[in-house]
Amino acid sequence: MLDPSYFAAADGFIARYGKKSSSIIPVLEDIQEEYRYIPRELLTYVADQLGVKESKAYSIATFYKNFSFEPKGKYVIKVCDGTACHVRHSAPILAAIQKELGLDGSKHTSDDMLFTVETVSCLGACGLAPTLTVNDEVHPKMTPEKAIGLIQDLRGDEA
Ligand code: FES
Repeated sequence: MLDPSYFAAADGFIARYGKKSSSIIPVLEDIQEEYRYIPRELLTYVADQLGVKESKAYSIATFYKNFSFEPKGKYVIKVCDGTACHVRHSAPILAAIQKELGLDGSKHTSDDMLFTVETVSCLGACGLAPTLTVNDEVHPKMTPEKAIGLIQDLRGDEA
């Protein structure tokens, strides 16, 4: 059962964009930004409030890659595995990060909810390959060692 504060926040987002069906995307974007994911109960609630069928709201939310139904960590690390990064050895970088965080191909978020690791097919910074982003900030010319250092620095910020 979702905490009532989530529904109050959703009401605030709905008030911001207006109680109409065309507000569905900006409201979902604000929910995603606030909580780093879209709880299913909240999707149902918002769809109802905006007069959108739940199935339609669900298909909108699944269409946009930025929306997630799984809780994500505070730091979302996207490791590029596009061609330019792959040939410059992105795979060992991903493996090192996953090992450091106790993750694998099916477990994407660390138990402490600090890190979510995803792969993407290009970050648009091929000249800086291999790259990764942390919450959309690009980190160029990565190595497994630099990636581990980055994680340790982020952990240090939390201590
Ligand atoms: S392939 Fe990695 S940034 Fe383009």
